[in-house]
Amino acid sequence: MSGELTARARAALANAYAPYSGFRVGAALEAADGRVFVGTNVESASYGLTICAERMALGAAVVAGARRFTRVAVVTEVDPPAAPCGACRQLLAEFGLDVEVIAAGPTSERRWGLRALLPEPFTRDTLGR
Ligand code: THU
Repeated sequence: MSGELTARARAALANAYAPYSGFRVGAALEAADGRVFVGTNVESASYGLTICAERMALGAAVVAGARRFTRVAVVTEVDPPAAPCGACRQLLAEFGLDVEVIAAGPTSERRWGLRALLPEPFTRDTLGR
């Protein structure tokens, strides 16, 4: 069930900083060139500042120069596995909609295309850019 990408996300989850929600998330984002970037959620006593694992991984990827992505694995400790939140779907879509999203929990896994998770997307095309 768990491939290498999911294993990377699971390892990242171990370092999640989620003292308020207790909901730990790990993400692993695979770039088109094969590099993998990981992220965890980071919470704050000022709750609204919380950053999701997926957006943390995306930030790490962008700072390393990656712009094209093929897959993202998101690991949580719930079944059925949690899909990325709306904000993370939107930021992932910034770099293309042809991304496979793999959500893994303790005992099960789900997969979608990002297009299916973000219908009628608002993109650079919408802006005419
Ligand atoms: N969280 C993520 O890391 N990714 C998501 O896609 C949804 C939510 C985090 C944010 C917060 O630390 C915790 O999960 C509970 O919402």
